[in-house]
Amino acid sequence: MNELDALVQTARTQFELADTPNDLENAKAQFLGKSGRITELMKGMAALSVDDKKAQGALINQAKQAIEAALTARRNALAQAELDIQLKAEALDVTLPGRSAGQGGLHPVSLTIERIESIFGSMGFDVADGPEIESDWFNFTALNTPADHPARSMHDTFYVEKVVESEDGQPNLLRTHTSPMQIRHAVQHVKRHRAALDAGQGMPEIRVIAPGRTYRVDSDATHSPMFHQCEGLWIGENVSFKDLRVVFTEFCKTYFESKDLVLRFRPSFFPFTEPGAEVDIQFATGPLAGKWLEVAGCGQTHPDVVRNMGLDPEHFIGFAFGMGPDRLAMLRYGVNDLRLFFDGDLRFLKQFE
Ligand code: DAH
Repeated sequence: MNELDALVQTARTQFELADTPNDLENAKAQFLGKSGRITELMKGMAALSVDDKKAQGALINQAKQAIEAALTARRNALAQAELDIQLKAEALDVTLPGRSAGQGGLHPVSLTIERIESIFGSMGFDVADGPEIESDWFNFTALNTPADHPARSMHDTFYVEKVVESEDGQPNLLRTHTSPMQIRHAVQHVKRHRAALDAGQGMPEIRVIAPGRTYRVDSDATHSPMFHQCEGLWIGENVSFKDLRVVFTEFCKTYFESKDLVLRFRPSFFPFTEPGAEVDIQFATGPLAGKWLEVAGCGQTHPDVVRNMGLDPEHFIGFAFGMGPDRLAMLRYGVNDLRLFFDGDLRFLKQFE
């Protein structure tokens, strides 16, 4: 084997031994680089005669082309190997089940509120919505709640500075209950029917519920600084406590899907009712059977409150109730810690989807 053939052979071997593109480029330099073997051979021809130069030059060129061909072949082989590794690493298993966009579900408290709305809706109640930043007037004064009422204490109430200008100069607050909606809704209703009322023609009854968020400085397993309430109001010319009892009993039986559930109206005090009561329920069966469970406050609307609605308490009478959807959800779903509803833990929430 002549010197050039041996050189080509060595180059092929070196290229084969290169495992990475980097090694290969280094190996290439030994043969084709500025001071590589082929370049050296070319330089060495300077002393040859013209004829020898031609002959030797052709042979060197052949060797150079052979080395270049070997280099290209190895380059391609390495690139292919790299591609194979990459393809294997990024392998797509088209038989795997797809990752679909997660489908959300309603929060258990939202489900409960929807349920309350639908049951009261079936009994002819509208649904009203109102502001969570409330004025002192609607939250307290209009509801016959005197300035020294304990619910006004800084410990119970979140006061708000200058977010909304209040009409009465008193600081605004995050509503501590949904009861201000009694006044807000009734005032609007009365305004719409003012002309008929003044003409002695009366007005359609007010029948409304108002669910929503409420706030108090309170936090433990059964209290959260933000919680939900649902207010109810029914005002007409001939609405009695008996109607309240029928409506609320019907609601509880439907809500809990329990026909043998019993209700107890326990006398209680609320500044905006006279008389007032607390509603307890008792299940005949199930894990809570036999216990009295408080579910709502209620009562006949106080004459002063009827007056604040723009109505004459001599002609209009009715009742109100307030209940806690959070508590209703806890009882219905058997949840014993209120905070679970507001922690946002998907493992908990997914159970209600
Ligand atoms: N607003 C009362 C509270 O937060 C609940 C309540 C009691 C509402 C009696 C009423 C009612 O409408 O008649 O404790």
